[in-house]
This record gives sequence, C-alpha cells and structure tokens, in this order.
Amino acid sequence: MRLKDKVAIVTGGGVGIGRAYCFGLAKEGAKVVVADIQEAEAKKVAGEIRQEGGEAFAVAVDVTSANKTQSMAEAALGKYGHIDILVNNAALYSAIKKKPFSEISEEEWDKVMAVNLKGLFLCVQAVHPAMKQQGKGKIINISSGTALGGTPFFLHYVTSKAGVIGFTRALARELGSDNISVNAITPGLTISGPQQEGVLTPEQLADRRRRRSFQRDQHPQDLVGTVIFLASDDSDFITGQTINVDGGANMY
Ligand SMILES: NC(=O)c1ccc[n+]([C@@H]2O[C@H](COP(=O)([O-])OP(=O)(O)OC[C@H]3O[C@@H](n4cnc5c(N)ncnc54)[C@H](O)[C@@H]3O)[C@@H](O)[C@H]2O)c1
Repeated sequence: MRLKDKVAIVTGGGVGIGRAYCFGLAKEGAKVVVADIQEAEAKKVAGEIRQEGGEAFAVAVDVTSANKTQSMAEAALGKYGHIDILVNNAALYSAIKKKPFSEISEEEWDKVMAVNLKGLFLCVQAVHPAMKQQGKGKIINISSGTALGGTPFFLHYVTSKAGVIGFTRALARELGSDNISVNAITPGLTISGPQQEGVLTPEQLADRRRRRSFQRDQHPQDLVGTVIFLASDDSDFITGQTINVDGGANMY
C-alpha cells in the first residue's frame, strides 16, 4: 500500500470521477475524507469504502464558501489528526450546458469561476496550515484537456480549467519551501456517470475515440493511477506540473 494512513480530502468525491479517486486512494491505505456539496452521495461513498474494509468519512462542503472549506479541514483534522493530500476535483462540469459564448450570462460565468477556481483557492487556504506544520503535503488540482484543445461552446468552463494550470504553477513556486507539491491533471473526455446526460453525445464520444492513440472510451479508473502517483512519495520531486491523461489524444 503506497498511502498507508495518509489522510486524503477529495472534493466532489460523491459522484463521477471523484468517487473513483476516493475508492482508489482508500485501496492504497489512505483515510479518505469524501467532501461534496451532495452530502447524501458523499455519505454513500464513505459507507461503501468502510464496508470494503477501508477508512473514510463524509463531509458536506460548498467549496465556494471559506467558512465551509475551513470546517471541512477542521473536520478532517478532528477525525484523523492530519491532512496529507488534497484532491481539488469539485467543479461545475456536468451541471453546465454547452452554448455559444454570447449566450453565457454574467451570473453563469461567475458561478463557474467561483466553483472551478475560487473553490481550489479556498480549499488550499484551508489545508495549508496543517500541511505546512507537518512539513509535507500533496495538492492535486483537476484541470481538463479542454484547456489544451480549446473546446468551443464551453468558454467559462475551459477558461476556468486553463486557470487551474496557472494556479498550479504559481502555487507550486510558493509552497516548495513548505515541501508541499502542487500538480495538475488534464483528463480527456471521461464517461463519469449519468449526470453527464445532456453534456455528452455519442458523436462526441466517437470523435474522441478516433483522436486517441488508444482508440477506446476513457473511464474514471483511467485517471486513478495518476492521482495515486501524485499523492504518493514516488512523486516527491515533481511539482508545478500538468500531467495529461487522455489515451494519447493531445501530445505536448
Ligand atoms: N468527465 C470528464 O469528461 C472530465 C474531463 C476533464 C476534466 N474533468 C474534471 O474532472 C472533475 C470530475 O469530473 P466529473 O465528470 O466527475 O464531474 P461531475 O460534474 O460529474 O462532478 C462534479 C462533482 O463536484 C461536486 N460539486 C459541484 N459543485 C460543488 C461545490 N460548490 N462544492 C463542493 N462540491 C461541488 C458535485 O457534487 C460532483 O460530485 C471535474 O473537475 C471536471 O471538471 C472531467
């Protein structure tokens, strides 16, 4: 087990890809804090992990609220005593509809930025004191391949995910002296669950399959190994990087 007794917070851990991160981290021995605005889903994931013999508990959090993200960190510290890993995964993704940029309202734009960018900032502010005190930490930010390819009709989302890469680089520079690594992952289009209905079409999936070196669909499990690697001691000298996991569609 590569993460024995490490404490990992996964935001947006209740459904989709975040759910898969929770199970993957728990299988490597981590104690997982399943943090989600959908509390019932988070509780289900934590319960299933415990049933399988792992350690997890659920926390309700809205990552756009400084009070709530502070409470999330306090709950993790209260229960497990330390915080070693933060997976900044929560985002508005399947909840938003693709549309021409001229039809995106100012309110929608602000909401996407609040969850997909400010949310990361607040979560890092909440966990940083504990990681600094421990002398080590791992922060993993989930960006998106859309920021590399410039997917159209998703301007607010793509802009926010490009922002995640800048956030990762600048924060890595600031937190190196605390021995905290900060890295990002750009997943390709991933079949993450029924909540994607309306966002994902069969044509899009076929198009992505064609563009990959590995010509198949991408599933949450395809991303779990990279999260475990970035959370583990194996990646201790890697920081400020963006790892692209898309079956060889984009190559940089
Ligand atoms: N599915 C894909 O094709 C794909 C591709 C690239 C990147 N990503 C990124 O991967 C991550 C997970 O993707 P997914 O497909 O599982 O997304 P999803 O939309 O299905 O799930 C998002 C999760 O974030 C949670 N969430 C939303 N707002 C929140 C808030 N204010 N506070 C706390 N939690 C909140 C939701 O409850 C949900 O659990 C996201 O960051 C997404 O942008 C997804």
